[in-house]
Amino acid sequence: MTRVFDEDLSAGFGTRAIHAGQRPEPLAGAIMTPVYLTSTYVQEGLGVNKGYEYARGKNPTREAFERNVATLENGRHGFAFASGLAALDSIMKLFRAGDHIVCGENVYGGTFRLFDKILQHMGLSFSYVDTRDPQRVADTITPATRAVLVETPTNPLMRLTDIAAVAEIAHRRDALLIVDNTFASPYFQRPLELGADIVFHSTTKYLNGHSDMIGGCVVVRDDELGARLAFIHNAAGAVAGPFDAWLALRGTKTLHLRMRQHDANGREIAKWLAEKVGHENVYYIGLPTHPQYELAKRQMSGFGGMISVELGSRDKAAHLLERVRIFSLAESLGGVESLISQPAGMTHASVPPERRAALGLSDGLVRLSCGVEDVQDLLADLEQAFEGMDGAGKGSKKAESKKAVTA
Ligand SMILES: Cc1ncc(COP(=O)(O)O)c(C=O)c1O
Repeated sequence: MTRVFDEDLSAGFGTRAIHAGQRPEPLAGAIMTPVYLTSTYVQEGLGVNKGYEYARGKNPTREAFERNVATLENGRHGFAFASGLAALDSIMKLFRAGDHIVCGENVYGGTFRLFDKILQHMGLSFSYVDTRDPQRVADTITPATRAVLVETPTNPLMRLTDIAAVAEIAHRRDALLIVDNTFASPYFQRPLELGADIVFHSTTKYLNGHSDMIGGCVVVRDDELGARLAFIHNAAGAVAGPFDAWLALRGTKTLHLRMRQHDANGREIAKWLAEKVGHENVYYIGLPTHPQYELAKRQMSGFGGMISVELGSRDKAAHLLERVRIFSLAESLGGVESLISQPAGMTHASVPPERRAALGLSDGLVRLSCGVEDVQDLLADLEQAFEGMDGAGKGSKKAESKKAVTA
């Protein structure tokens, strides 16, 4: 099991981001951790080795990344996985048939799909609740509940959960609190400091930050929980490959710099959008008009670059998505480049339409992942893409036939 280097925990965030978990390589003193491309390690004698036996269990590149992220989350033990969903799937292996999980109702579509289409059939049961209200969580916990899982901020509706309040509720009933911290990143929010037991990420997003790999990670503080996860990590084997771990480790070195710029751009773009379409149609936790702005300020140190905008119809969403030039129409988020998507038809297509409607996740909702380009270029791009939107879809044969196909 990979444990942080305790001395790394005394440094500031930027210093941790650059150095934590890494020491000069012993052969030549390389300052960058090498990519250990090996499946096995030569043993000196029967039962005598350097602590490495087989690379599913341990890889030095992966360990450096695991220590780095665990230090950034102010945790103790880190585990790197092949994807965010692989990380979540392995967390769920802590539980047994008959166990019940309370889950936030607006989680990433793939999280819902994993629970609803796979794990439910293996005997776990899930209740989906609006975790903005901690009392709703308390009311949903049963004697079989073993964990509460929240994503905060949520994808894509930017709803928040009071992590400290829900941690207390979960612990009172002997349940673990699991937090998906992908949207905030540890630069802006550290759930373990607020009482969560397990934090996980799609490292595909902000932690790596360059849209060139898929990965996940899990961080905990508790040694016993760490040992159970270490067992699952090796036994189920959904581990990160060394090259992906190396890419992500290079990414985290600039996490603090990137997050500051995502946040600065996010604030400006959200303000501009609120003037364009009305603040009630802009979901950005850094707008004082966001209903949970006070909670955002309390449990986060910044707001980031994720914004959703309600445009009112699929045609208007398509108008914007098809005209942007710097924003790219693509799934995913958290990279240095700006992306734009329509969650209902893309990232959340696996959520049944009636569930999407109940949540307020409409066909006219557009999600922006504001990158770190010059903000005036991003604003100019949106300005030109919004032009003529009011007429979008009116009487257009193309729009009508598109509607028919969707239906
Ligand atoms: C909030 C959140 N959690 C988890 C995941 C799953 O991560 P991955 O795509 O790396 O499996 C995603 C992917 O978009 C996500 O947005």
